[in-house]
Amino acid sequence: MVRIISSYLQRTTLRCISSIKGQSLPRRFQPIFRLEHTRTLHDEISKPTSSESTATESIESESIESESTEPDLAESQGGESEPADPSVRWEAYNKNFIDLTKNQATPMVGYLPGQEVTVHGFIHKRRDVSSNLSFCELTNASDYNSRKRIQIISTWSEDGSRQFLAHQDLRTIPAYSPVIVTGTLQEPPYTTQKPGSARKWDLKLRSIHCLNPFPKDIIVSKDAVWPPHQRHLQLRFDPLLRDRLRLRSSLQTTITKYLQSKNFIQVDTPLLFKSTPEGAREFLVPTRREGYAYALPQSPQQYKQILMAGGITRYYQFAKCFRDEDHRADRQPEFTQLDIEMAFANGFDVIKLVSNLLAKIFLSLSEKWSPTNINGIRHPVYVGVDETLPRGPKKKKKDQEAPGPGDGITRYPRIQYKDIGFMTYSQAMKHFGTDKPDMRIIHPYITNIRGTIHLKLPQEFIQKITSLEDPYVEMMKLRLGLSPYAAGEFIRKFMDSLPNNTTVKLSPESTPAVLVYDSSKPLNGLSAFGHESADRFEEFTKLEESHYHGCKDGDIIIIHARKRETFHGSSTWLGRLRKALYDDAVKKGFIPQNNSFKALWVTEFPLFTPNGDNADPGQGGTAGLSSTHHPFTAPLTGRDFFAAKAQPLEVKADHYDLVINGVEVGGGSRRIHVAKHQDFIMREVLKMTEEGMAEFSHLFEALRAGCPPHAGFAFGFDRLMAVLCDVPSIKDVIAFPKTNKGEDLMVGSPAKITREQRKTYYMFQESESAPESESELAPESKPESTSEPEPTTEPEPTTEPEPTTEPTTEPEKDQELNA
Ligand code: AMO
Repeated sequence: MVRIISSYLQRTTLRCISSIKGQSLPRRFQPIFRLEHTRTLHDEISKPTSSESTATESIESESIESESTEPDLAESQGGESEPADPSVRWEAYNKNFIDLTKNQATPMVGYLPGQEVTVHGFIHKRRDVSSNLSFCELTNASDYNSRKRIQIISTWSEDGSRQFLAHQDLRTIPAYSPVIVTGTLQEPPYTTQKPGSARKWDLKLRSIHCLNPFPKDIIVSKDAVWPPHQRHLQLRFDPLLRDRLRLRSSLQTTITKYLQSKNFIQVDTPLLFKSTPEGAREFLVPTRREGYAYALPQSPQQYKQILMAGGITRYYQFAKCFRDEDHRADRQPEFTQLDIEMAFANGFDVIKLVSNLLAKIFLSLSEKWSPTNINGIRHPVYVGVDETLPRGPKKKKKDQEAPGPGDGITRYPRIQYKDIGFMTYSQAMKHFGTDKPDMRIIHPYITNIRGTIHLKLPQEFIQKITSLEDPYVEMMKLRLGLSPYAAGEFIRKFMDSLPNNTTVKLSPESTPAVLVYDSSKPLNGLSAFGHESADRFEEFTKLEESHYHGCKDGDIIIIHARKRETFHGSSTWLGRLRKALYDDAVKKGFIPQNNSFKALWVTEFPLFTPNGDNADPGQGGTAGLSSTHHPFTAPLTGRDFFAAKAQPLEVKADHYDLVINGVEVGGGSRRIHVAKHQDFIMREVLKMTEEGMAEFSHLFEALRAGCPPHAGFAFGFDRLMAVLCDVPSIKDVIAFPKTNKGEDLMVGSPAKITREQRKTYYMFQESESAPESESELAPESKPESTSEPEPTTEPEPTTEPEPTTEPTTEPEKDQELNA
């Protein structure tokens, strides 16, 4: 029996290997995305913190290429070739089978010099110095943060001795294999261990056993870029990716501790929910009951409100959310929220709680992690607490990113409640042209956006830039420290590239005027303004409160016109241009890289958005509106509530977003907690259908049962992590992300469903009628056609979608100077 099982195991393992080895992969496994940064092996990232050398010999400087050639020992380690004789097979299997319970790793806390220990881990490249001296680094499996690195030292003096045999074993094991090693610990002298750098142990080898040889056909090189279908190798060989996952886990613990200390409890809510018109497009899960499907939750919003009605007054959860929306770098169809809700609380209570939580997150980040610049990205590398600092909260070193006085390691800056800004939605849209301003974009490099009414620009000038009847004309100024000629070149190239720019494109409303200040030209290069307006412009820039810092040669002035109307949507054209210009100028080195974190609360969003501005399906009402946040969001004031029916687009919501460095890392709102108010908003304002409202009957029931006032918030946890880790995509902080096509190429999901499954789950195309009989769908009678319909996913857009907002306007009266 044992023999049968073991031979089965071996057969299946070998089948797996051969299916990778040497064969070209099916198309769906071809690489689709690549991580943005070059991969670096562990030795390399350790350099910033580890400069120690051992008393004997360091393998730090060892390059992978300098590795001695491995003898082919896979076979002797029970590897890839299959012995014909079953008894030999069994022996090979048995040889590889190590009972880990009998070879347990020695707890690291007990490590002492001179002690014999057993270590489990992965060996790295071996360095053979002579026939009887080798070094090999070992990643200790039980060392969570790889802080205490181990270097195996293998040496022997007597032929046939235990050390001799262990040395032979070490030389047979391919690099990157999992091993059990036993040896004697030797601590390198303290003088070679720099404070704060990773500590290292030397391990004098006594025995080593390979647990599963690393195959020869997987080539590990310093610059290897593993395709998405080899995510296991990305995880194994990209220490930066692993560090990000560690940080993610560590911050989850920090958050959990903080929220629990404030009496929040974690409640798991169902993943098999039902379809409701909450706002976003959902994923459906078919059932074996004809005509019935679950929907995956776009967020636990409704459940958390039911919890409030149920008297669970402080809730949080790391919740999986699912949205079937267009893919972007900051979106995944399946993502994680840190979801929070509080009863007997208003929006400001939630803002305070989340601000303090954010401060805790940054505190934890700065205490144990160091921003380490690798290929232009500031990766969090675990360095541990600064042990040279006195303990206790009062004595901790204050903010900002600076080498710690004791350990010399650069730490992350800290953010406190007082450091987080506040801005209303209309201020953000007016002065930054976006509802998520990046507060690192600052004057004098790039000014805020300002109206031009006080310049009294000539009509001919305005008519040249727009055909709009009564446009709102606005401007901004850039100072990149370039000569007028170089500034002209920069902006010309940039504007010429707009047709290919995925975020800005050309403006549909206005051909922007671009002027370069040049004192050698008539009217200093501003002659397009006309004499008087040019003077007024210069005067305006001299006002301290304008923050335009006067005019200098090479300043670039951009004037743009848009419709004069209340703001809706997430950005204006000039706002998108402002951000894109900043990114380009930083990339080209004209504006210094700003590595700080600028957090901001954006409040008072409009309660409703016209349907044209919204890419989501919304609530399906006939009023031509949908909820900006979700239909449970409360109007900001009583006045807003009463104005909702007559002037819905003027109504403000008690809705707030948290923005860090221009990324919306979370959003929340105070909720409508009275059933009849909720009914009024859905029925009278959104004009939802009876069927649509009936989908929310559970919520109405819960609100009706004396539900207390409540408010909440959800961090997009992946987005928060991506901002902290300074990576361009949330894929880089998710262990198993989906590609832009919504596929997980590692496992091959989504997978095509069989005809049998379609039958079981009653999934037919519109044109297909329900089967008359069982036999009609039987595979034998209906061979699979090549035009088999795809699974129920939306067709993939060929290009990144444009931001969905129309450029919008605010009345001119609101043009006071704003710093
Ligand atoms: P909202 O829809 O604003 O609010 O989502 C909260 C946060 O979740 C993140 N997020 C995403 N992250 C990755 N991929 C996506 N597709 C994605 N969509 C959203 C964003 C966003 O700010 N239930 C409410 C919260 C509340 O009111 O309490 C909600 O889900 O960072």
